[in-house]
Amino acid sequence: MKKLFPYLVYLKDVKMAFILAILAGIFYGASTGLGIPVLIRYLYPKIFSNEAISVMTLTLICTLPVIVSAFRAGGNFLNSYYLSYCGQYILQQLRIKVFAKIQNLPIAFFHKRQPGDLISRVSNDTTILQQTIINASQEILKQPITLLGAVSYIVYMCFQQSDVVFLIIFILAIPLCIVPIRYIGIKMRNKARAMQEQTSELTHRLAQNLSAVKEIRSFCLEEYELSRYEAVCHVLRERFLKVVKYTSILSPSIEVIASFGVAMAFWYSYKSKIEPDVFISIVGALYLSYEPIKKLGRLNSEMQQGLASLERLENILEEPITIHDPAVPHPVGKLEGNIQFKNVSFAYEMAPVLRDVTVHLTAKKTYALVGPSGAGKTTFAHLIPRFYDLAEGNGSITIDGINIKDMRLKDLRQNIALVSQDPVLFNDTIYNNILVGKPSASHEELMTAAKRAFAHHFILELENGYDTLVGENGSMLSGGQKQRIALARAFLKDAPILILDEATSALDANSEQLIQQALEELFKGKTVIIIAHRFSTIKHADRIFVFKSGEIIEEGTHDLLCEGKGLYEELYAKQS
Ligand SMILES: Nc1ncnc2c1ncn2[C@@H]1O[C@H](COP(=O)(O)OP(=O)(O)O)[C@@H](O)[C@H]1O
Ligand SMILES: [Mg+2]
Repeated sequence: MKKLFPYLVYLKDVKMAFILAILAGIFYGASTGLGIPVLIRYLYPKIFSNEAISVMTLTLICTLPVIVSAFRAGGNFLNSYYLSYCGQYILQQLRIKVFAKIQNLPIAFFHKRQPGDLISRVSNDTTILQQTIINASQEILKQPITLLGAVSYIVYMCFQQSDVVFLIIFILAIPLCIVPIRYIGIKMRNKARAMQEQTSELTHRLAQNLSAVKEIRSFCLEEYELSRYEAVCHVLRERFLKVVKYTSILSPSIEVIASFGVAMAFWYSYKSKIEPDVFISIVGALYLSYEPIKKLGRLNSEMQQGLASLERLENILEEPITIHDPAVPHPVGKLEGNIQFKNVSFAYEMAPVLRDVTVHLTAKKTYALVGPSGAGKTTFAHLIPRFYDLAEGNGSITIDGINIKDMRLKDLRQNIALVSQDPVLFNDTIYNNILVGKPSASHEELMTAAKRAFAHHFILELENGYDTLVGENGSMLSGGQKQRIALARAFLKDAPILILDEATSALDANSEQLIQQALEELFKGKTVIIIAHRFSTIKHADRIFVFKSGEIIEEGTHDLLCEGKGLYEELYAKQS
């Protein structure tokens, strides 16, 4: 329960609803736990006595159950509704908090976590929490107060009858009920956690399958995939049934324990010749107090499921944000684009990917990075917008003399346009997909950018033009079309630093030649880092860096490097 405390601060935003819920719960609990036994004890004997009663009294007697029920009904509804209101508000805040956290997590986080697991945490676990909150709202106040009411009545009656044996019977039975509640609660948490982990696995399998529909068909993996999915489903069902087993066994065990209490009450009542109405009201109160215990026990096991889900969400919330704004950011407007790598070394895990790289990229010049795949070119480019940070003592990267770690992330990234090999499009219109580059752009600006990226023509040929929906991750478009939209975004963003990571690789030679002119236009006045395989693109760069195993082994202009008879010349000779 302590785990819930940090979230209770959100209650101050909904305090009126919360107070109302508590008051309604008190009304409900008091009218149930106390009201019903009192009715039995004092009103029904009047009806069954031989004395005649006036019409007034009879009317009053008959009205009282209606009044008690009205209190119960009203209290019940208001309590459940307003507690749910508060609970759902807290859940909403939690959902937003988790999503906001995901927006700020460093990219490395997403390499170590499966997307299916994250989706499952954000959707399934919050749904479980939602159900827990609904269930808890039904019971968490009403049942303890009902219990309190019923217990007060029993205590009162026992003292009035100077008979404490009932009290002892009752008190003895309570710890006995707590035993299964505690035991099952502990079991539940682990079982629920195991079940939720399996749900993550299921989501992960599904997400992976959906992202590889073509590969599965071309490699005939349908049956293999199906059997893997079946295995996961099977384990999930088994784990789910364990949770059901523990949830379902609780009420019956409490009932059995409670029946011993009632049996002893029978026995004792016979021995001590208790009045029937006293007996009935005490047994009624006993029953009314076991009912809340049963429900609270059940709630406890449901809460364990909710807590297991909460823990899984907290795992995300507790994840450290390793890449963040500096405490005192260096004010940065539009940068010139002088980029300096000083003794930069970098590793994702253990193996070094960049080794002691020192380069200076002068503003407004074009640089090409070439080299075999896996040489570290993409990594080099990704360090500039701080997708990854350099570890302490592993060199520094500055732009215009300012360490990139001293800038606000937003300021830094505002100055960089990055087009990657496989650009991601949102499932939205083409227009909105380009607008991502500069959300404040006018219609004309956007059209100009599309024209310059040689995207305008093919867009107009589509049935709905700029309003065409591109499908999930641009599935309605070809690779080349997607790249042109990504380029249009970069044109629109018009940042002083431009990084093209194999951004024209999906274009056919013809389109690439066309776009080449446009690119030269785009490159003017910008610091450009272009990673490419085609030498037609690389040739024109002011300077070329040749990467091999995380080091720059050659650098110079195209002509200079060709004379050198090194790796560059070798690569060039192969292509031409
Ligand atoms: N997220 C990652 N986690 C671990 N290793 C990575 C990751 N990304 C790339 N690498 C490794 O880093 C090396 C350089 O990769 P990369 O910079 O993408 O090369 P290039 O762009 O030159 O082909 C490769 O050996 C690759 O396996
Ligand atoms: Mg690469």
